[in-house]
Amino acid sequence: MILEVDGIDTFYGETQALFGVSFGVAPGEIFALLGPNGAGKTTTIRSILGLTRPARGTVRFEGRNVTFAPTHEIARAGVGWVPDDRRLCPTLTVSRNLNIARKRSKFRAWTIKETCEIFTPLEYLMERECENLSGGEMQMVAIARALVGSPGLVLFDEPSQGLAPKIVADVFSTIERLKRENVASLIVEQNAQIALSVADRAAVIDHGTIAWIGAASELRNDNALRQRLLGN
Ligand SMILES: Nc1ncnc2c1ncn2[C@@H]1O[C@H](COP(=O)(O)OP(=O)(O)O)[C@@H](O)[C@H]1O
Ligand SMILES: [Mg+2]
Repeated sequence: MILEVDGIDTFYGETQALFGVSFGVAPGEIFALLGPNGAGKTTTIRSILGLTRPARGTVRFEGRNVTFAPTHEIARAGVGWVPDDRRLCPTLTVSRNLNIARKRSKFRAWTIKETCEIFTPLEYLMERECENLSGGEMQMVAIARALVGSPGLVLFDEPSQGLAPKIVADVFSTIERLKRENVASLIVEQNAQIALSVADRAAVIDHGTIAWIGAASELRNDNALRQRLLGN
């Protein structure tokens, strides 16, 4: 496993958001973590990145315990992040946002040119300030920024949210492309249908607890199971 999350309990103050959450992601695997709004998906990502530390349990990346590692070290080790709100520097150009995110790990570092081949509109947006981009353009920049950081695993927080269908299709075909290059993805989504269309394995989280974990095909093909777990 490239990522092992083992029994994490995470709190916001007194409020417990995660209850013994455990799952693993294999190298090059696409893993979908599904669940409704407020289930604990973003908190799981924040716990992996050390942005909100679990009170109990461990997070391992490539076998190394990173539960208490600083976020920048976890990123350096090869964990990329595409946040739900993109978090680009609004007053900087696309080019600048990508250049400051470049780093090297043991995994493949994508060049800015390569990210423009994946998302062709990027080439023409390089000198634009990020605050002037559309939602879809921002998402392309956010993914390109993760790739130039040389990730072995990318954490995607609601990658389909608020995007036009064409952009959603591009984003998910990029996730499949990453898999072919042996880069793993953890996709956190309310949109189970789109995430299950590319995932190898999946888990359902509900009220901070993992309710189900298994092959994505099982959830894709078993309508009754999906209805019971996800209501669609
Ligand atoms: N900054 C925060 N402070 C307090 N509670 C929070 C905070 N962020 C999230 N929560 C709570 O933690 C729970 C899980 O939230 P979150 O992980 O954001 O869910 P999801 O991403 O699945 O929608 C929710 O009950 C939410 O209200
Ligand atoms: Mg969320």
